[in-house]
Amino acid sequence: MPSKTMIDALNRQVLMEAQSSQAYLAMGSWAEIQPGLKGVTQFFFQHSEEERMHMLKLIHYINERGGVAIVPALKQPQLTFDSLKKAFETLLEHELKVSESINSLVEIALNEKDYATHNFLQWYVMEQMEEERLARECNDKLELIGDDKSGLYLFDRDIMTLDKQAPGKSA
Ligand code: FEO
Repeated sequence: MPSKTMIDALNRQVLMEAQSSQAYLAMGSWAEIQPGLKGVTQFFFQHSEEERMHMLKLIHYINERGGVAIVPALKQPQLTFDSLKKAFETLLEHELKVSESINSLVEIALNEKDYATHNFLQWYVMEQMEEERLARECNDKLELIGDDKSGLYLFDRDIMTLDKQAPGKSA
């Protein structure tokens, strides 16, 4: 069974994934009331679902390994954004924090000589690489687009295909 230190750290990650899910849910809800952002709205809502799945995976792991998963209380996330670019900058900042947190979990697993948890966490390491790539790609595109409305139209139209363009992923 993982040590108390490990279980506590995994439970802190449950909270972080739950807060990520809430943050992207709020971004989706904000995007839904902006004109012409159907694609972006779908993207944020889908990402919120993915973060919930990340949280559930942790909850199941903690419980299956003899720990007790803690379903956390959540803070209200940011509800409005000055621009789409700001929303995506916030998303990237958030993902970088999640990656840092996953890296420190891996470090704890190694310090605790908990190789099962170390192995379990490798899925999150890979997932974070992909999420960072996607968030950076969105930010780079929005930087190029600037105030160009036709560029923004195409960004919104194509955003759901970006997920499938990662190296090693089939379209
Ligand atoms: Fe599950 Fe994007 O952190």
